[in-house]
Amino acid sequence: MMRMPVKIRRGVLPDRCRAFLPMEASPISLVESSPTGGELPQTERRSWFSTYVSSFTSGNTWKTTCPNRHRLADQVIFEACRDCRPAILDIGVSDGVTSLELIEHLGDSFEQYFVADRQTDLLYQVKGNTTYFYDRNGLCILIATRRWLVYPQAGGWFPFGWIARALSLRAPACDTGHARVLSLLQPELLELTRRDSRITVMTYDVLHPWPGPAVNLVKVANLLNPEYFPESLIRVALANINAALEENGMLVVSDNRESDLECVSAFRKRGSGFAVVSVTNGGCRVHGVITHLSVL
Ligand SMILES: C[S@@+](CC[C@H](N)C(=O)[O-])C[C@H]1O[C@@H](n2cnc3c(N)ncnc32)[C@H](O)[C@@H]1O
Repeated sequence: MMRMPVKIRRGVLPDRCRAFLPMEASPISLVESSPTGGELPQTERRSWFSTYVSSFTSGNTWKTTCPNRHRLADQVIFEACRDCRPAILDIGVSDGVTSLELIEHLGDSFEQYFVADRQTDLLYQVKGNTTYFYDRNGLCILIATRRWLVYPQAGGWFPFGWIARALSLRAPACDTGHARVLSLLQPELLELTRRDSRITVMTYDVLHPWPGPAVNLVKVANLLNPEYFPESLIRVALANINAALEENGMLVVSDNRESDLECVSAFRKRGSGFAVVSVTNGGCRVHGVITHLSVL
């Protein structure tokens, strides 16, 4: 259901239809309303923003996120930061709500914090009742009307993938001179970044070498997933992460599974591989791939 390339805007049909029809919150709300969530209290404001950002795709993945989903992974990181002030690289953060929570939790216990994702903003243009969203390469990734959300890049079963691609052919080319920019990062995180020079937001693709300084700790949550990438690309990502880490630096990889069970694996860099430090709830999906690297 989640991967359908054509979805009904949430609110058009009664919520109970979600059990058998693909429905999604429309990110048009981010464009039309105040992106700060207006007068909502802080926790609801963060959830509000995450709900709409989660409706976007990014390459092979969705930008699914929400507050309070990394309690166990963050606890492992918190323990590791007791005796040192690490430079942290957080990869694939979506809107950064979970980064914001970890930063708040750590307080003074870190030296630098890189908040990184391959897609930190989008371009959009409105034509009549339709809003077209494009990535920075001008690729149309979402067509949103009052009733429908169409994802041309999401693949999907015939005829839905075919319909989505056919509709995308009618999308206007992205007019980069006039299209507006929609930041996908929590406004509170951007505000914090302005005040705290230890925090840097970066557009970064984990399939490429890390361009920043070496770090002591890498966190990757809900990204290194065989549903998103073949094992060959997961190995490329792990090699880039390994190269970004200082020797003995820590890698924490986690997945939120059904019913939000959080599965976490923590490792230390040993040369070009990783040694297991701890495993929670059976470990992350790619635990075996990472441990196999360690014996290469
Ligand atoms: C499912 S979301 C996970 C968000 C967050 N880590 C969490 O657990 O709530 C996956 C995120 O990874 C990002 N992503 C996808 N491919 C990536 C890549 N090659 N490099 C860096 N980030 C990537 C997407 O843009 C998206 O924001």
